[in-house]
Amino acid sequence: MKILLVGSGGREHALAWKLAQSPRTAKLYCAPGNAGIASCAECIPIKAEDIAGLRDFAGREGVDLTVVGPEAPLAEGIAGLFGKAGLRTYAPSREAAQLETSKAFAKAFCRRHGIPSADSETFDDAEKAYAFARSGKLPIVIKADGLAAGKGVVICKELREAEDTIRGMMLDRRFGGAGRRVVIEEFLEGEEASFIAICDGRNVLPLASSQDHKAAYDGDTGPNTGGMGAVSPARIVTADVERTVMDEVLLPVVQGMADEGMPFVGTLYAGLMIKDGRPRVLEFNARFGDPETQPLLMRLKSDLVEIFELAVEGKLGGHKLEWDARPTACVVMASGGYPGSYEKGKVIKGLADAGALEDVVVFHAGTARAGDDFVTNGGRVLGVTAMGADMRAAIDRAYQAAAKISWDGVHYRKDIGAKAVR
Ligand code: AMP
Ligand code: GLY
Repeated sequence: MKILLVGSGGREHALAWKLAQSPRTAKLYCAPGNAGIASCAECIPIKAEDIAGLRDFAGREGVDLTVVGPEAPLAEGIAGLFGKAGLRTYAPSREAAQLETSKAFAKAFCRRHGIPSADSETFDDAEKAYAFARSGKLPIVIKADGLAAGKGVVICKELREAEDTIRGMMLDRRFGGAGRRVVIEEFLEGEEASFIAICDGRNVLPLASSQDHKAAYDGDTGPNTGGMGAVSPARIVTADVERTVMDEVLLPVVQGMADEGMPFVGTLYAGLMIKDGRPRVLEFNARFGDPETQPLLMRLKSDLVEIFELAVEGKLGGHKLEWDARPTACVVMASGGYPGSYEKGKVIKGLADAGALEDVVVFHAGTARAGDDFVTNGGRVLGVTAMGADMRAAIDRAYQAAAKISWDGVHYRKDIGAKAVR
């Protein structure tokens, strides 16, 4: 069948790589894609947010299934728009995607359904937010309600910082409308992990566990980024923790969304803080994680097209995913300056050498073509992903591949996966 994949990052390259391997895929399009995705899909120059343009394209080309990578088209309502045109999407509705697009919605939902997360309050009024921040203990976590490209969460250790953050979000509108409302919550300690599942509105099919590295620099220091690397599995997600996450988080979320008339069909991502075997929800995403998807899909043996079709048809019940037991690690190579401002157009050297290593896949996140060269075209540029007999071997192999790649200003963390082997 004909499949349209929406997005242009490393997550989408991993999805395209996997979808292209399915015997069910006759034709794979990606809009807008990137220079790496062009090796396994036909890239179409339509932006991910242009959901009307995507619908027209899918209708014209007779696309059988559209798979959505990033959150922006979900917030625009791509599932509903395609549905009206009789087109199938593997994507949650705008209403269901509120689990990601509104932190206030997600917190209230958790409270209604007894899903473990940090204690919090939601504010529309800056004076009340200041008063709340002054009355409690520090640190506190202040979150813009809406989508803020991963930058809308600030952990405040001092009152001054909390006041500045509230002012920046609510009054100065640093994140536009996304910060008009804020959630202020208790600071949780523990170790983070990502837990991602495919959902059909009723059934929940969990993926293997994974762990992101959000901070820009080694030792989890520096500003938060979209994610500087990931591993699968996450050592902290034991079989017991996994059962608890399913029973206390994912199953009640999907049941609760169905009960409230917003069945969740698509990828549900729970960002968790785990302490003493108890998981608590930090955030939900209504999509695959980036970069978690790169190490996850490298381990997945099952046919992803079949899984997505079953999800869209509400028939996931009784199905299981098959995994390669070997761990994987992904090192994100970024432009100098990222997550702040950076230059584009730097020539990338060594891609072929790195990609020729056994059990290595170099996923492209922000790349473009300039003549015969691949050049940088974003903050996160590549996700160098490798598999190994054990986690140590996977990490070593990913770094061995990364060492073959260079461009002017490249930077990457040297400690991806350190928590997974400690
Ligand atoms: P979020 O986008 O809500 O996942 O927040 C981004 C990052 O901020 C998370 O990955 C955590 O590292 C951190 N964070 C968010 N909420 C909390 C919390 N309540 N306690 C401690 N850290 C948090
Ligand atoms: N890696 C975190 C995210 O995709 O939101």
